[in-house]
Amino acid sequence: MLNIALFGAPGAGKGTQSSRLIEKCKLTYISTGEILREEIRKGTELGLEAKKTIEAGKLVSDDIIVKIIEKIVKANLDGKGFLYDGFPRTVAQAEALESILEKNGIKMNAFICLDVPFDICVERLLNRAKTSGRSDDNEETIKKRLVEYENKTAPVADFYRKHGTFVAVEGVGTEEEIFERIINSLKGCV
Ligand code: AP5
Ligand code: MG
Repeated sequence: MLNIALFGAPGAGKGTQSSRLIEKCKLTYISTGEILREEIRKGTELGLEAKKTIEAGKLVSDDIIVKIIEKIVKANLDGKGFLYDGFPRTVAQAEALESILEKNGIKMNAFICLDVPFDICVERLLNRAKTSGRSDDNEETIKKRLVEYENKTAPVADFYRKHGTFVAVEGVGTEEEIFERIINSLKGCV
């Protein structure tokens, strides 16, 4: 069973490359951002709470996120594996994921970091804002999301460097070029 995480700043291309990777590897896709947006669309209690946090460019609490992940992992252990997009996003989430995987007898195979300079991320997100309908795709919130990334999410890279599963992939280029780099970085995993 494969466990792959796609990591990177807001706008690094996690969602874009995830679509290609799940198509190729037939993995269960877990995007915490998509899950939260679905809760917002449905108007659930979690959605109402998450909406405020997302619009402030902040991270939703680790407890909520970890519960969501644990439930999905347990329910899909008969599949080929998991692709995590936008998770783990704090060191506490990374530690919790390790323990969930261990409890279920599986492990992280590759933690792929898409390297994209912040100015390119901003450009991509402002461009996406024209059509995305995402309330966090505006200049002010994008800036806050990048600060949150730098402070709370970037340290997760070091966690996986120590873990030995960290792979850096250049995230600038065409979508096809980047996908090819990702597949090459997985060396025999897929
Ligand atoms: P989330 O939905 O995860 O958003 P994000 O990390 O901010 O990243 P994005 O989805 O904006 O970007 P992406 O990397 O997926 O890029 P994409 O492929 O779309 O999280 C949203 C919020 O939810 C968070 O701020 C937080 O509040 C909350 N949240 C989520 N997970 C959480 C967690 N684990 N813990 C706590 N809170 C959590 O590409 C961007 C644009 O660029 C697109 O328009 C795309 O078409 C374009 N593009 C992609 N690739 C290229 C390319 N190679 N060249 C040119 N353009 C490209
Ligand atoms: Mg995304």
